[in-house]
Amino acid sequence: MVSVAVMGHGVVGSGVVEILLTHKQKLFSRLGEEIYVKKVLDLREFPDSPIADRFTKNFDDIINDLEIRVVVEVMGGLNPAYDYVKRCIKAGKSVVTSNKELVAAHGAELLELARQENVNFLFEASVGGGIPIIRPMNQCLVANNVDEIAGILNGTTNFILTKMIEDGMQFEDALKLAQDLGFAERNPAADIEGHDACRKICILASLAFGKHVYPEAVHTEGITNITLEDVKFAEKFGCVIKLIGRVKKLENGKIDIVTAPMLVPKKSQLANIDYEFNGIMVRGDCTGDVVFYGKGAGKLPTASAVCADIVDCCMHLKKRRFLFWADGDGSNIISVDDSVFGMYLRLNGEDAAAKAEKVFGKIQAIEDGKRGAVITEAMPMSEFNKKCDELTAGGVNILSTIRMGDL
Ligand code: HSE
Repeated sequence: MVSVAVMGHGVVGSGVVEILLTHKQKLFSRLGEEIYVKKVLDLREFPDSPIADRFTKNFDDIINDLEIRVVVEVMGGLNPAYDYVKRCIKAGKSVVTSNKELVAAHGAELLELARQENVNFLFEASVGGGIPIIRPMNQCLVANNVDEIAGILNGTTNFILTKMIEDGMQFEDALKLAQDLGFAERNPAADIEGHDACRKICILASLAFGKHVYPEAVHTEGITNITLEDVKFAEKFGCVIKLIGRVKKLENGKIDIVTAPMLVPKKSQLANIDYEFNGIMVRGDCTGDVVFYGKGAGKLPTASAVCADIVDCCMHLKKRRFLFWADGDGSNIISVDDSVFGMYLRLNGEDAAAKAEKVFGKIQAIEDGKRGAVITEAMPMSEFNKKCDELTAGGVNILSTIRMGDL
């Protein structure tokens, strides 16, 4: 029997406990031992839980219990998760987490600590919810040099955009629905302002390129400025708008990483990933494109990935799974000004498209009276921003700008 503790009994934590209880036999047959949930840490009361007697409000009951070999951190947020996880690793316990904020902020440090203590620190559920992505990238694709990763990494925003596109639903109503369904973060600003997707692409970039990429170093835009008008113009250009986290390896060895809404051509595999589903494309130099698809948020999909990590830890109590990257200082990341994109602009003003053509050169344009939208050729963002100033000085109002996702 392997004793585990679960810290946090929210959406994901309750799912983990549920799966460990309902799938006990199935997991036993895989592991050859029982996984016993010895403690659940939460400040709230859960009198109706079948293991109500094993709840505690005191972290000491976990850290001081020598029988507990694996601790699951599903509290979310940095505090007290960071402190608790560090203390568990230092106490010789393996840790499994779904906490992308924690991994994106402290992954390199916690991996190094786990290496020193000869325990495991696993976080499959931190990216893509129920989709296997960390383990496949770390094991199955290990023989590849990764050239690019691009993904729809946030279920809440994908749900909102899908509702806007399919049902013409207003942004606020779609967000409320996503919150009711349990996809959104405690503070949904992390979803809609792009920080959650940014953390996830940072984790994948760190894993792929071996150096920690901190979210602060990544240009991040959310979906709060996307309007139904943009959605309709995108449709006319044969595209859909998706929030994309993307990292590309450049010829000079540096990486170009960004999180932003993009117009994705309908023929792209990522264009048809809707609602709370996530999709991640990994371009390897040997494999070509490999696409991962599934539920990126929600109780049981996320808990399923956590439970797989628990089993992995239980199977390797005295051995380390190789999962590691070094700390990074951002010197391998290019400036957002040097990042190259074609751009969509929604415009308002007399002869807007003609003026845009004069400034940007070759464009695709759709005009609808005084309103219109254009798509430019690819150019560095610094050049794009200068040209936007020129266009504005020429009397054209730029109502929105969105990157073209060449995916
Ligand atoms: N809020 C996140 C999402 C949960 O919507 O994708 C899963 O990480």
